[in-house]
Order: sequence, then C-alpha cells, then structure tokens
Amino acid sequence: MKKLTLDQVINRVEDMPALPSVVSEVMALTEDPDSTPHDIEKVVIRDQSLTTRVLRLANSAYYGFPRRISTVSEATILLGFQAIRSITLSAAVSKVLIRELPGYKMDKGELWQHSQTCAITARHIARRIKAKNPEQIYVAGLLHDIGKVIMSYYIKDSYATVIDMVLSENITFLQAEEEILGFNHAQVGGHIAEKWNLPHDLVEAISHHHAPEEAELNIYMTCITHVADAITMMMGIGLGVDGMAYSISDYAIDFLDIYMDMDTIMAEVFDVIADEDSFFY
Ligand SMILES: [Fe+2]
Ligand SMILES: [Fe+2]
Repeated sequence: MKKLTLDQVINRVEDMPALPSVVSEVMALTEDPDSTPHDIEKVVIRDQSLTTRVLRLANSAYYGFPRRISTVSEATILLGFQAIRSITLSAAVSKVLIRELPGYKMDKGELWQHSQTCAITARHIARRIKAKNPEQIYVAGLLHDIGKVIMSYYIKDSYATVIDMVLSENITFLQAEEEILGFNHAQVGGHIAEKWNLPHDLVEAISHHHAPEEAELNIYMTCITHVADAITMMMGIGLGVDGMAYSISDYAIDFLDIYMDMDTIMAEVFDVIADEDSFFY
C-alpha cells in the first residue's frame, strides 16, 4: 500500500466532527473568572443529550458525592470549573470514541472504555504526585488514542501487512503503522487536537504519548498520559490488536518517580472504574 501523505491525513482530520459549539463556549467560560455556574448551565442545557451525559458523569463514583447532583450549575458549584470543563469535553467526544475500530479489531465501546480508564488513571496519578491541573491531564488521557479513529480506516486495508510486520520484524504496532502508512496514530491524534484548538501541551501529550521523552512543553502531562495508558493496558482494558505491542518508558517512570507505587495505583483505579457510570456514553 502507498504511504499516506500529510494532506490525506489532514483531509481525514477535516472529516472529524467539529466539537459542538457548546463545548468551546464552556471552555471559554471556565477560563473567565467573571463567569458564574449559572452562565455555564445556560450554555450546556442548550444540548439536551450532552446535559444528560454531563450529569451522569458528574454523578459517577469518581467524584463521590453522597447525594444526587441534578443540575449543571449544582455540578459546577460542587465540582469546580476545571471539572465541569473536562466533563463537558468528555461527554462531547464520547460519541466519536465509542465507534467500532475495525482496523484495530476493537468492538464498539472498546476505545471509549480504554480512553475513559486511561483518563481516570491519569487524573489519579496527577493528584497523587500533586501535578498541576489534574483535570487537564484527564483530558489528555481521554484523547490520547483519538488518532486511531482515523487510522482505523487505513489500517483495515493493510491489516495483514501490519500484523505480519509486527510478528516477523519484532517491531511495535506503532512502528508498523509508521512504516506502512507513513504516520502513527499518536501523530494523527495530535492533528485532531490542533483542529479542535486544544491547548498546545494537550496536543503534545497526545502526539507523544508513546514517546514521552520527546515532550518539552509539559513533561508531566505527557509522562502521566503514557504511564496511565500502560497501566490501562496492563489491566487489559481496550487492548485491541495492538495491545501489548508497546513498551513502558523507563524515562516516564523515573521522571514521575512512581516505580514503587504502580501496584497501589492500579488497585485504587480498579475501585473507581468498578462504577459503570464512569463509562456511560
Ligand atoms: Fe496509543
Ligand atoms: Fe492507548
């Protein structure tokens, strides 16, 4: 198969649905210290299905509120601006991440489950090591594999070649993607994040989630995303065909200094994801 050109990839990226305008408005409002929970609610409730998903996520075990949160403004007051921002984005991208990815042999819902687990794990690690802005790191975890949604179209046709290469040349699935298609899913994901005008450090974390040593803007965010992805795979969640064909970076483990805590982190994350509302879409 002919390698893809950057233009072809960008064209496919153009086909990705734009983020609903509600999401960019919520992003802007949560940046503005003068906005109120009521302002945010007014925007979110314009989209009924988004509102339902936002409330469902706000009530998931992770936030652990003893009583039911029933309105968006209540969720904003109780969980904070940063959290309502990541919940809104998460609710909006769930529609894209839920898709079946034939190129990776992932069923409908599998990438979403993998992404949501990685996001929860990333936020958990961020909190643990007191990194700045755990909610932004949650979003990086959520979107890290979004490039697979596009790559799946192309890989489907050269699937046998990719698998053959992984097995015979003892290379990773990522290297095979690059070798055969000219791009890997991390780079493509970075282009999608750029198209969505997401912050630069988020674009970096997505583009380099398999090569955290290349991060420069926000090393914490990229390393945490990488380790959270590895932990998610170790837990066997949303493996797909490329599942274990990645290695965990010693650089990231050292940088975060969490070598000794890996088992504990895994056990703690298991408790949170036991609640199926975290996976609602
Ligand atoms: Fe990945
Ligand atoms: Fe992943």
